[in-house]
Amino acid sequence: KKPVITVIGSINMDLVTIASRVPSQGETILGEKFHLIPGGKGANQAVAAARLGAEVHMIGAVGTDAFGKELMNSLKREGIFVDHVKPVTHIETGVASITISEGDNRIIVVPGANHALCPEDVEQCEDVIAKSDVCLLQLEIPLLVVEKAVSLAKKHGVLVILNPAPAQPLPKSLLEQVDILTPNEHERDIILAGEDAQKFAHKLVVTEGARGVTMVKNGKPMRIPSFSVSVVDTTGAGDTFNGALAVALSKGMELEDACYFGNAAAALSVTKLGAQTGMPTEAEVRQFLEIKEGGSQ
Ligand code: RIB
Ligand code: NA
Repeated sequence: KKPVITVIGSINMDLVTIASRVPSQGETILGEKFHLIPGGKGANQAVAAARLGAEVHMIGAVGTDAFGKELMNSLKREGIFVDHVKPVTHIETGVASITISEGDNRIIVVPGANHALCPEDVEQCEDVIAKSDVCLLQLEIPLLVVEKAVSLAKKHGVLVILNPAPAQPLPKSLLEQVDILTPNEHERDIILAGEDAQKFAHKLVVTEGARGVTMVKNGKPMRIPSFSVSVVDTTGAGDTFNGALAVALSKGMELEDACYFGNAAAALSVTKLGAQTGMPTEAEVRQFLEIKEGGSQ
């Protein structure tokens, strides 16, 4: 049986511009290329999990505009259930303006329809949440929606992974209910500001980019190193990691092994342009691991 994962989160169209450098204030430069690529942290994590073999249900909102229709179709093509993606007529679909230059990305997200998702929408999905192995969330939708979804998931004993991105200070009740938090180092400092960080250390999986991830095992921090690959675009690497982590944990893998699997999926994703475009299938991750484990690391 396939693991069942419900993702409650954002759906964006990524407007990706590739340029040799970042223009300074008031300056106009010529870029090299432009792409429209499906994105949004929620949708990205949903796609990652679906490609890695999970049955994925998406809860979110898109506009009834051209981007919204295109994003719905692309989720369906990935085999993701979209019955709980709400079409909204009065607000545009979320977009992310992304510039890739000098080996790095800069992103501005305009949430649009993502912010029209409300706690009542999630309440209507209680049956879907209840039958999930894992609920996966991020912070590109209203915090009240995240809180409602987490409390419903915990009511039914469902494992909750929260990727707290983009970061904002979180209420203690939310930190307490979530099973696993996957911030990067910067996000960790923001979500735990004013809290006793030690108290939540056991549920933290901190992503550290090219260095891998750090989790806590038997009360001690443990680094699970990433794989070295040639980087084309790191957009969505964290999302790939989160989707993979959800799949691995829903299959009953230990957290340490799940992080290793997540690192492999994320490494493959950065070798290609775009968030969703570069996400690997389960077979691709297995093959990659065979090569890495068989040959020189
Ligand atoms: O994590 C990457 C994603 O963040 C992009 O796809 C963009 O849509 C923003 O939400
Ligand atoms: Na990529």
